[in-house]
Amino acid sequence: MSSEPKNLRPWTEVISPELYEQEFWEMAQGLQFTDRNPLNTEMFFLWCLVKSSPIINLYESGTFQGYSAEILAKAIATKPINFTTIGLSLDDSYDFARNRLKGFSNVSVVEGNSVEWVKQQEKSNDRCGWWIDGPKGKNMLPLFDAIGEKYESVEWIAVHDAEPEDWSGNRKRTINYFSDTVPISFTEESFQKKYSYMDKPLIGKSSIEPWYPHKQRGLEDTSYGTQTIIVWTEGRKWSDLVR
Ligand SMILES: C[S@@+](CC[C@H](N)C(=O)[O-])C[C@H]1O[C@@H](n2cnc3c(N)ncnc32)[C@H](O)[C@@H]1O
Repeated sequence: MSSEPKNLRPWTEVISPELYEQEFWEMAQGLQFTDRNPLNTEMFFLWCLVKSSPIINLYESGTFQGYSAEILAKAIATKPINFTTIGLSLDDSYDFARNRLKGFSNVSVVEGNSVEWVKQQEKSNDRCGWWIDGPKGKNMLPLFDAIGEKYESVEWIAVHDAEPEDWSGNRKRTINYFSDTVPISFTEESFQKKYSYMDKPLIGKSSIEPWYPHKQRGLEDTSYGTQTIIVWTEGRKWSDLVR
């Protein structure tokens, strides 16, 4: 399995962070920290992506306690976009997340397995974007299949935990699922370094494992983040996109 895409689209070509840096940073000051969240640098990338994307539906798989969902809900608050976040509540997180998101009228919180949920949906050709923060690794592939089956106009799929060290397999599995013609971007090192100040308030807060730049990445580095991979499906038919 390859771990690098043939058709890399650098982040500098797909988002304009300078337009959103100040508003994101101000918004981040008011966020409640909850565990197992993606880092702010990754969420800043998604903020820019969602704000500049021609989607009318946004989906998240892997709600947990709604850290990323709250950020995405705030990103679309003034836009005509509906946001649905789907999460297994094995970890008792569903009520917490629902409560956290109850003030957002265009947000729905669904308790359950996103693969099963997608399979139950009617086919749709509304333009949409997907942010996947669980399931991971091989369990993510049935979700890709289900999305391709039901959604005919997927602009992009963004998957968390796709760093080069690739402990989860998300990077390789995502690259190998889609054909070499599909453009792929990452919240790569240069992006993380540039905006690493956004992650500093999170350092040391996780009860699962403390975050240190050296420990996490095994590199002498100033950034803390894992990487998100963004697959630019751009509304194309799944039969033309996947291997
Ligand atoms: C790292 S946590 C997500 C953190 C969350 N996005 C946040 O910012 O707080 C991953 C979550 O994905 C959920 N998950 C795993 N497989 C899933 C599936 N098939 N459908 C929905 N949620 C799933 C897990 O239960 C777990 O709560």
